[in-house]
Amino acid sequence: MRSLLDIVDLTVEEIDELIATANDIIADPDKYAEKCKRKKLATLFFEPSTRTRLSFEAAMLELGGSVLGFSAANNSSAAKGESVADTVKTVGCYADIIAMRHPKEGAPMIASMRCDVPIINAGDGGHNHPTQTLADLLTINREKGHFDNLVVGMCGDLKFGRTVHSLIHALTRYENVKFVLISPDELKVPEYIIDELNKEGIPYVETTSLEEAMPELDILYMTRVQQERFFNEEDYLRLKDSYILTLDKLDTAKKDLCILHPLPRVNEISVAVDDDPRACYFKQVLNGKYIRMALILKLLEVA
Ligand code: CP
Repeated sequence: MRSLLDIVDLTVEEIDELIATANDIIADPDKYAEKCKRKKLATLFFEPSTRTRLSFEAAMLELGGSVLGFSAANNSSAAKGESVADTVKTVGCYADIIAMRHPKEGAPMIASMRCDVPIINAGDGGHNHPTQTLADLLTINREKGHFDNLVVGMCGDLKFGRTVHSLIHALTRYENVKFVLISPDELKVPEYIIDELNKEGIPYVETTSLEEAMPELDILYMTRVQQERFFNEEDYLRLKDSYILTLDKLDTAKKDLCILHPLPRVNEISVAVDDDPRACYFKQVLNGKYIRMALILKLLEVA
């Protein structure tokens, strides 16, 4: 039995297989419509979500399975003081697989040690979000056809942005990927990730200027400033609009730039950008459902 806690729990070959399965689902969804008949997915969300929870549920429903779960900690016995370990041990009696989001880093790992069914980390605090990364990778693969030789700009809250941390870990495994890390000084990528980039000899630059970085980027990964991770409202208000991508800022961008955002967005991307052919963030949302279908099949070992 396997869980998915961190994107590097999957080998590069397994990610290729998941992408191939997702592409096959997109091409022929009917073939997969009953693959998970009589299987149940539980979504245990101790933190708010729109895309991740609903795409997991849509994924299981489109595989012919069923879903159960809760969408907030206060709708569960966590509100009465139950531990994560006891919650997942209980839900493992009702469901075949669990997708879990929790504000505490490492909570899905604790859950996986106490549970007899696969646990999928659907986001743990400011740490990791491996299934968002799978959605990002499927989108990059479908837009670019490869992961090697890309200049990847990551912009916004790189400190608390768990999607950024997971995507960096995923992309460092491909050849000649360069990272351009664009953030205010207060929201730079955590030191432990910079140490890993240095140790692996992965090229990167840190900058505060989106405009200066723009011309060389193949991928621009915009992120929201994570209000819920700030201890101080004043700091959040000062930093929240550090970067706003507008159409005029794209004048110097490559014609085949791929603009991604894990969403939700607040102000980081002007709505006018949505109609630019380089805007791929709503394709990314849809791809998230297909790659989660592929992941459910893999973890349930459904052929
Ligand atoms: N990308 C993402 O995790 O979105 P939600 O918070 O809506 O699930």
